[in-house]
Amino acid sequence: MVSSESARTSEEVVNIQELMKKPLTSVPQRYVQRQYYNEPSLFPDETISQALPTINFKKLIHGEDTELELEKLNSACRDWGFFQLVEHGISPLVLKTLKDEVEGFFMLPLEEKMKYKISPGDVEGYGTVIRPEDKQLDWGDRLYFKTNPRSIRKPHLLPQFPSSLRTILELYIEELQNLAMRLVGLLGKALKIEKREVDVFEDGVQNMRMTYYPPCPQPELVMGLSAHSDASGITILNQINGVNGLQIKKDGVWIPVNAISDALVVNIGDILEIMSNGGYKSVEHRATVNSEKERISVAMFYLPKFQSEIGPALSLTNPENPPLFKRIGVEKYIQDYFTRKVDGKSYLEFMRISNHTVTHASV
Ligand code: OGA
Ligand code: NI
Repeated sequence: MVSSESARTSEEVVNIQELMKKPLTSVPQRYVQRQYYNEPSLFPDETISQALPTINFKKLIHGEDTELELEKLNSACRDWGFFQLVEHGISPLVLKTLKDEVEGFFMLPLEEKMKYKISPGDVEGYGTVIRPEDKQLDWGDRLYFKTNPRSIRKPHLLPQFPSSLRTILELYIEELQNLAMRLVGLLGKALKIEKREVDVFEDGVQNMRMTYYPPCPQPELVMGLSAHSDASGITILNQINGVNGLQIKKDGVWIPVNAISDALVVNIGDILEIMSNGGYKSVEHRATVNSEKERISVAMFYLPKFQSEIGPALSLTNPENPPLFKRIGVEKYIQDYFTRKVDGKSYLEFMRISNHTVTHASV
């Protein structure tokens, strides 16, 4: 969801960890996001009856329950657009090492982190790009970069990270990519899309965003990451230090996600909503912060290959079930997405074919 435009002289990059070095008792005005005050939300202890579905990856791939688990996956993506994935096969040691190394990165002195800062006109690197029209800022420090195809990796980012961080990131990226590709295959099967139509995700465009959300003296006044839907096909979120904060919008109400330890949170992005012709939902979500403990997340975004096209799957559309979204090349899609201001689901609405009346139950 990081956004930027071509270089503008008034663009700046900010950092909250640095701001917090001076004791703060109140939040600077530019971080106060008043528009959130009146939106209905549930408290964590009210969410028991509204719990995110949990999918067991092991059960999806072998044993007697594969069909049952696939149906659970299918309804989770239709009704929620989000699920928690357990028994995903990423080892506890890999997860622990990732946690230690990513925490270590954000603890580095500012000068070290600024070696990776976002250059003017770019979107990749450390920091948050602020555009002249951004009036309010999110309460989080980010490191964002493309990981696949390997040829588009920026030489001064991942390849130059401290070596122990780079080693674990390379391993995590590879393991998660395998997991994501198997998941996408299963989603295609659940949707009854032809295999060659989901093959566009093989060796596709993949990005990583690590975010450090510092504790905040007045957490109810700020937002760690403003409401948005992801531009991806799917996203896999790892809340690496076990601190909750993610909320998703269901039937107009913000619901906190109470993550199971070591589970990964998977969500459907705009591209899969388009490919499934609206069958699966790319649901709005946001990240809140708290006053006690920092929260750190690592998100991986999976998109189709540059050379492919995004549009409703041909195997799902026919005269009775006409396409609800336009078709667009992946490169143009990414380019257009990054030049639009991020605002809830506006980009997906832009892709919608407007002469059909469609109701969106979950947003
Ligand atoms: C994202 C996202 C949530 C989080 O990066 O798109 O939704 O908890 N992140 O960091
Ligand atoms: Ni997101």
